[in-house]
Amino acid sequence: MQRVLSFQMARGLSESSEFVTKRICFSLIFSVGFLSLLCGFLLGRFATQRAIEFRAEKKRLELAGNGLENTEYLQRLVLEQLERTPLDADSERKCESFNLKEDDISQVNDILSNLSLIEKVVKHQSYIMATIRGSRESDRYIILSVSCEGVGVALELAKIFNQIQKEYKWKPRRSLIFCLFSGSSNSCTEVLSNFMPHKIMAYIVVHHQALQGKGHFIVSGSDIVQSMVLESANIVKKWFSYNNQLLSLNNIPYNITTSRLALDIPHAVLSFMNNNITYNENHHEREIRKIIIAQILAQTIWRFSECLIIKWNPNYFNETAFKALESINRIELLEHKEKIQQTLDKLLINIKTLNEKIDRIDNINILDTRILNDLLMDLDRILLCPDKQYQSKTDWIKFFKSNQEPFNIILMHINEIIKCYENAIQLLQDQ
Ligand SMILES: *[C@@H]1O[C@H](CO)[C@@H](O)[C@H](O)[C@H]1NC(C)=O
Ligand SMILES: *[C@@H]1O[C@H](CO)[C@@H](O)[C@H](O)[C@H]1NC(C)=O
Ligand SMILES: *[C@@H]1O[C@H](CO)[C@@H](O)[C@H](O)[C@H]1NC(C)=O
Ligand SMILES: *[C@@H]1O[C@H](CO)[C@@H](O)[C@H](O)[C@H]1NC(C)=O
Repeated sequence: MQRVLSFQMARGLSESSEFVTKRICFSLIFSVGFLSLLCGFLLGRFATQRAIEFRAEKKRLELAGNGLENTEYLQRLVLEQLERTPLDADSERKCESFNLKEDDISQVNDILSNLSLIEKVVKHQSYIMATIRGSRESDRYIILSVSCEGVGVALELAKIFNQIQKEYKWKPRRSLIFCLFSGSSNSCTEVLSNFMPHKIMAYIVVHHQALQGKGHFIVSGSDIVQSMVLESANIVKKWFSYNNQLLSLNNIPYNITTSRLALDIPHAVLSFMNNNITYNENHHEREIRKIIIAQILAQTIWRFSECLIIKWNPNYFNETAFKALESINRIELLEHKEKIQQTLDKLLINIKTLNEKIDRIDNINILDTRILNDLLMDLDRILLCPDKQYQSKTDWIKFFKSNQEPFNIILMHINEIIKCYENAIQLLQDQ
């Protein structure tokens, strides 16, 4: 009996210990399972959290400084490359011969067609047009139009952009068009009629006389594009520490020979002022001047193509208008001068309000930024205020020159300017 009991006890014991080990085993499995689930869940959350943070950080970097900050090293690289490479040594010779020589045109055509960044090259009788498609806003264009020595500059720029695309996977945000023309009349302006006007953000010209002058760097053109070019010139001057002799930017608007183009599209013409100094410039200085204009061009194109939102600081506009108004001192015009000043002040207040709105906008929202960019381009066109022959009615440079004209002519100009500014105010207030 005792043996039986002890046997049963032993069995019971062993049974229960078996049972216990099973239970422990199961709960162990469950808790391990639960723990790994928990770990997995936490790890997963951590990972997504990191991914979200990473993406947000990337976005933040992309948007910083109006979308220009994270490519600053590339901008500098472009400008440094332009400084290093000789800008087409024989383009000066070509400047004379580029007059529709079939060889030169097909050579340029070959070079451009060879670049992978360029989507298509179209060869016409008197011009070549190369298109680089924008990655984000391909239906907005920045058009560069060059002839003569400008051709060498544009080719070099296209090559450098191509290299940057290869090495850094960069593509312009908006589309770029390089239009190279030969002859004395700018056939690239014909091209513009193929586009809806509001799709062209800026039309930038380096014509055959751009490097003839030895004076100030000057930009004529529509107000907004003009200030963008001047801002770019300031950046170039700062980065490369050019002195005032090489790059002088105190744009005195009095004796400028170039005026606005007969166009109703935002534009700028870049050149050095021909102040008729007859000193013999050496070859080296001339080369540097060419590099400088190439750098300003590159920086302007980059900013127009890459910035998320175009913002206009009207300081230069105000300054020019202010100087022009100062030059009016005939007694019989004072009353009208007052009127123009009041309209100008009102316009500047409206621009300030617009800029405050731009500062508040969330620039992730591409639709909002596009609407504002289009508004600025509209504003630039309205401020150009072309007449039936596309001559701008608001060109202060022309106003300076007309200062000796009879009273009624000047009065007519003043009234036209007031009307144009009132239209601009209307556009801004309709927002
Ligand atoms: C086109 O590119 C190839 C290879 O990149 C090069 O060998 C050739 O010389 C280029 N042609 C022209 C016309 O630049
Ligand atoms: C403009 O040019 C004229 C001569 O063409 C000169 O007499 C005058 O001083 C110049 N004005 C300025 C502001 O440079
Ligand atoms: C430059 O000066 C010369 C005389 O020295 C004169 O004949 C010429 O018309 C001037 N050019 C300009 C653009 O003022
Ligand atoms: C416009 O320029 C004048 C003269 O430089 C200055 O007094 C005025 O404050 C400027 N206005 C604005 C809105 O910047």
